[in-house]
Amino acid sequence: MTHVNNAPVRIALLGCGTVGAEVVRLLHQHAGDLAARIGAPLEIAGIAVRRLGRDRGPLPVDPALFTTDAAALVARDDVDLVIEVVGGIEPVRTWLVTALESGKSVVTANKALLAEDGATLYAAATRGNADLYYEASVAGAIPLLRPLRESLHGDRITRVLGIVNGTTNFILSAMDATGAGFADALDEATALGYAEADPTADIEGFDAAAKAAILASLAFHTRVTAADVHREGITEVTAADVASAKAMGATVKLLCIAERHTDSGGQESVGVRVHPAMIPRSHPLAGVGDAFNAAFVQADAAGELMFYGRGAGGAPTASAVLGDVVAAARNRLSGARASNDSAYADLRVRPMGETLTRYHISLDVADVAGVLATVASSFAEHGVSIQTVRQEGHGGDATLVVVTHTATDAALSATVESLRKLEIVRDVLSVMRVEGEEPQ
Ligand code: HSE
Repeated sequence: MTHVNNAPVRIALLGCGTVGAEVVRLLHQHAGDLAARIGAPLEIAGIAVRRLGRDRGPLPVDPALFTTDAAALVARDDVDLVIEVVGGIEPVRTWLVTALESGKSVVTANKALLAEDGATLYAAATRGNADLYYEASVAGAIPLLRPLRESLHGDRITRVLGIVNGTTNFILSAMDATGAGFADALDEATALGYAEADPTADIEGFDAAAKAAILASLAFHTRVTAADVHREGITEVTAADVASAKAMGATVKLLCIAERHTDSGGQESVGVRVHPAMIPRSHPLAGVGDAFNAAFVQADAAGELMFYGRGAGGAPTASAVLGDVVAAARNRLSGARASNDSAYADLRVRPMGETLTRYHISLDVADVAGVLATVASSFAEHGVSIQTVRQEGHGGDATLVVVTHTATDAALSATVESLRKLEIVRDVLSVMRVEGEEPQ
């Protein structure tokens, strides 16, 4: 093993929940290897927690290292590197800014903070000439941000299509497998520990939207915040939507889509959205089941790339944290620094209405002469071209299932509004976007 003769790199750990405790265990378990890889041992200088008395199971650290004063811990001169696994905006932002401005490396899993105000952290990192790493903030164990931030930096990324929320992927996979409705699938996810007691952040798409903002910022060298992301959750997805997707050889996934668009004048912009969508079963993302995450990245020279793995959980998230710790610790020893904030492209973020997509629409209609023509003319009036129409049922009632060709989201949603107003349309049963290559 390499001789390790440098002074220890001293770590302040902020947060000791599921991920923090796993970081402590892995730091202890792999201490020798980590020291050899870095060229210096890693040493925990302190662990800041909200409550001292909480049962965290047997942890291989001196209990005297625990403190409730995170602000004092990050300000200490004998701390080199801060790991933050607390989450939320304040007071974490203040702690991390303090750490970065004083030259401490920061490794964080905090997607909400990065997505809302990454610029403030990067500015503090620049002032303090310090490293800011956050691989664990998106898709847990999957190495995704480093490939975007480093490996693909010589390429031009055009699209990132991802499943970046495990809870919703578990729910939608269960709905697809069993035909269950949303509420039953959510109950199952809760019972198995995949959904939190308050699942709002996951099922309403907030968690995925924060991750989409981080991915888009890195992929397109443009500052994208969570507020720029069009967000729809999965609470309205019905068993009928999932069955309809099946009938056309597709499945429903909560997708995070970040894409570059070039208009006819050569002007580039980016669109960033999170919403449920039908994707063909032949698409690599369709096979991502259970609570797994994946990202499908398209770049000019690299072509198509797929990243897949566990997006949540103590050990997978701790794996990403420790990879960043090793990188940051090595940088400290060699005097190098991680790549800075890259927002030079500063592309316009397109509103959802300008997004090009396709819709799958199910309509409950009266089965009488002229219905199809009336429905078709609503699409035509909005310049929306129909790809397929299927009719199910007969007698007085029929369900018309229409899949469109590509059009702007504004034109498609205006079409749906006008369909709702037609007398012969008794109900709009389901409206869902369709992603994946359009059949020629
Ligand atoms: N709650 C998230 C998920 C994991 O379900 O994927 C943390 O981002």
